[in-house]
Amino acid sequence: MAAAAEVSNRRVTLKRHVTGFPTEADMEVVVAPAVAVPPGSRSVMLKNLYLSCDPYMRSRMSRHLEPSYVPDFVPGEVMATFGVSKVVASGHPDYQEGDLVWGMTACEEYTLVANPESLFKINHPELPLSYYTGVLGMPGLTAYAGFFEVAKPKKGDYVFVSAASGAVGQIVGQLAKITGCYVVGSAGSDEKVNLLKTKFGFDDAFNYKKEQDLNAALKRCFPEGIDIYFENVGGAMLDAVLLNMRNHGRIAVCGLISQYNLEQPEGVRNLFCIVAKRIRMEGFMVPEYFGNYRKFEEEMAGYLKEGKITYVEDVAEGIESVPAALIGLFYGRNVGKQLVAVARE
Ligand SMILES: NC(=O)c1ccc[n+]([C@@H]2O[C@H](COP(=O)([O-])OP(=O)(O)OC[C@H]3O[C@@H](n4cnc5c(N)ncnc54)[C@H](OP(=O)(O)O)[C@@H]3O)[C@@H](O)[C@H]2O)c1
Repeated sequence: MAAAAEVSNRRVTLKRHVTGFPTEADMEVVVAPAVAVPPGSRSVMLKNLYLSCDPYMRSRMSRHLEPSYVPDFVPGEVMATFGVSKVVASGHPDYQEGDLVWGMTACEEYTLVANPESLFKINHPELPLSYYTGVLGMPGLTAYAGFFEVAKPKKGDYVFVSAASGAVGQIVGQLAKITGCYVVGSAGSDEKVNLLKTKFGFDDAFNYKKEQDLNAALKRCFPEGIDIYFENVGGAMLDAVLLNMRNHGRIAVCGLISQYNLEQPEGVRNLFCIVAKRIRMEGFMVPEYFGNYRKFEEEMAGYLKEGKITYVEDVAEGIESVPAALIGLFYGRNVGKQLVAVARE
């Protein structure tokens, strides 16, 4: 029932719209006025436990002249993000104090959500709650939908994943192994390459920053070519992959993080491979698959409990660490899923 929650609320706001690489100075931690569920409303008050740092947030930090696929953040206002939260007050009959949920919240300690129907109740609180920012949340569903619905793998396929140790990539690789594929990942440090091979069960992996020639690296790892490329980075890697795709290969375009901070996106030169090799290259957006979430949650919770999928997180502590943690994604500082622990309970 509607109970007032009078609290001070630290939050992260965008100070100004960003061009190029974002810096910590583009964001600010401020204390906001106390908040409460307005009497008679169907809103809920969330206490945010874990906040997600995601690459798409970079797009929201820019000012777009033409509307983007997600709304721009407004300078001076709190930045929205996915998170794991506890309901501390509710005016909505379906949400009770104490309920654990994940979904769209904001970079602050407490968030008033006017449309709680958009939140997912957490069905497996026996698993680490932070997993609902990652393997059991948006990035997990991204990996699952992008791999199974877009890339459409078959047993024995040769699969390549870029940004492979990250929030999405580490899951794609493990789903590929469960499906009986041969999987290779690229990542930006030897530590990450080691994780891919020893913890996530990739058949092979390479540090793309150490390779002089990405085409040669891919030829070494895939002498018979690539059936599926799970694209997370774009740029030079995409060009090299196109040269190494097999006939009728599939490229599931999840993201192009190498381009997000460039004022002029790079071109792609080897597009004719798509014609010659009859490649299907298809982008996707995870919100289109939110309707499949419950099926995904059960399957993924099962894999986690059986030890068939493991998940590595990079946990920053405290709301003040949001700016640095978010920026770190664009320098590859995160090892595994980047999230911020705001409160443990
Ligand atoms: N389509 C969708 O609905 C959807 C949903 C979620 C995520 N995504 C996309 O999926 C991709 C991965 O997201 P995530 O959440 O899993 O992030 P993440 O991989 O956990 O973190 C980002 C990683 O990207 C790599 N990176 C950063 N700058 C790079 C560059 N210039 N060139 C190559 N790699 C670079 C870094 O890893 P290294 O150290 O390995 O370079 C960094 O750790 C992103 O492109 C994101 O936008 C799409």
